[in-house]
This record gives sequence, C-alpha cells and structure tokens, in this order.
Amino acid sequence: MLGRYTTGPESRADDSSEGRHGCPAPSCALCSPTMTRIDLRSDTVTHPSPEMRRAMAEAELGDDVFGDDPTVNRLDERAAELTGKEAACFVASGTMGNLTSLMAQVPRGGEIIAGEGAHSFAHEAANFAVVVGASMRLLPWDENGRMDLDRIRRAFRDPNDLHEPPTSLVMLENTHADSMAQPLPVGYMDAVAAVAHDGGVPLHVDGARIFNASLALSTPVSQLLAGADSASFCLMAPNSAIGRPNALRSLA
Ligand SMILES: Cc1ncc(COP(=O)(O)O)c(C=O)c1O
Repeated sequence: MLGRYTTGPESRADDSSEGRHGCPAPSCALCSPTMTRIDLRSDTVTHPSPEMRRAMAEAELGDDVFGDDPTVNRLDERAAELTGKEAACFVASGTMGNLTSLMAQVPRGGEIIAGEGAHSFAHEAANFAVVVGASMRLLPWDENGRMDLDRIRRAFRDPNDLHEPPTSLVMLENTHADSMAQPLPVGYMDAVAAVAHDGGVPLHVDGARIFNASLALSTPVSQLLAGADSASFCLMAPNSAIGRPNALRSLA
C-alpha cells in the first residue's frame, strides 16, 4: 500500500508537479498522478462496480413484506440454489446474517462453540450475548484455520449437569479470517458437521467469503455447506481488488 488510502479506478494520487520522493512526476511509476492505488486495509472498503450500481438502480421492485419483490425473490432463490439449502433470506449485513442464524437455532442460555477470534465473537458487538442470550466457548485453531475435532468434541457440555449451559451450536468461518483467510476444505467441514450432529446440535457457517474458499478449493459452495444447517455469505464486487462491498449479504 502506497501513501494515502484510496480505492477504485477513479482514485488518484495527489496532483503535485513533483513526485513524493523528489523525482519528476509523472515519469516515476510510484509518483504518477494517474496511478491507481489499492486500499488493502480491508476487503470491506471496496465499492460496487458501475454494472452493479446500474443493476441495483434498474432492479424490478415490489413489496417484500407481501413477497412481491421479484428481485429479492430471485436473489433468495439463487442463494438457496448455490448453497444447496431449502431457502434463503436477504438481509442487510453479514452481522445480521449470523445473528438471524443464531436466533433461529440457539436457545436463551445456550452455548456456542466457535474458534478464538471468530467474527461473531470478536466483531459483532457481543450480539450473541445481548440479543441471543447465549455464551460462547472458544477453541484455538491451527495455521490452517482449523479447530481440532477432538477438542470440539470435548468442548460439549455435560447435558446431565444442570449447572452447565447447554451446548447449542457449533460455528465455523470459511474462509477463516484470522488465519489470513485459509479456506476450509469439504472433508474438514463435513467432519465438524458430523461432530456437531453427533452431539445433537446444528452447524452454522459464517461464510462471508465462502465463494473465495470455493474458488481456492475448486469445490462448489453447496458441497462445502452440505453439512451446515445454516450459513451466511456476502455478495462480491467483481471489479474490486480483493472482492466485496460491505453492503450486500444473504443468509441461507
Ligand atoms: C468473517 C466475517 N463474518 C461476518 C462479517 C460481518 O459482515 P458485516 O460487516 O456486513 O456485518 C465480516 C465482515 O467483514 C466477516 O469478515
């Protein structure tokens, strides 16, 4: 990342006649006033492409409460198809996608097993506690972003001990953000799903970047999510440097 933070094809460096490190602009590639700079602080700073803006502006509209919005209906149907799930519901953010999934599956006082630093734990304003009324049991993960299967098994609470919060859900993140976005392969996803289901609880996948995992692993999203009971994902900005705007999300 060079100099000031800028994004997108319209972003330009300062229009100074002299380069930043003293060379005569625009002969230096680093100092050229027309050089596009890429903001690598986060993929959340990306913007929709002109095509995406046009598609949004021209989208057919209807009353979503009556199920009359053809665009939202098509989006939900496509999301369900891609994820291989019964149904999908468009929501306005990834945080809302995760929260609605937890609300649908975790009872008040329940406990969620998740990886240390999971987005839902560390970056969603503790909504699992405030809104869902649940606790989280956090497990370490390895350099591939994976929690050990035995550790997950051992993290389940004793259902016969009424002092303990009932284990209610296992959560995975794919790609796994804190390990520099390692993609979790289908074998591991299925194995975690089996552990969750053996313990009688659902698996939720925070798939904010599941399409990146799918590309990296050459595995369809529906296959990666085959064992998941719910998943959230985000929609990508195809022309951005890394991949996505921070505004369009869907929940399957
Ligand atoms: C792994 C992961 N899950 C969930 C979210 C939440 O998305 P949002 O910022 O749209 O609420 C993010 C945001 O970057 C994320 O990286």
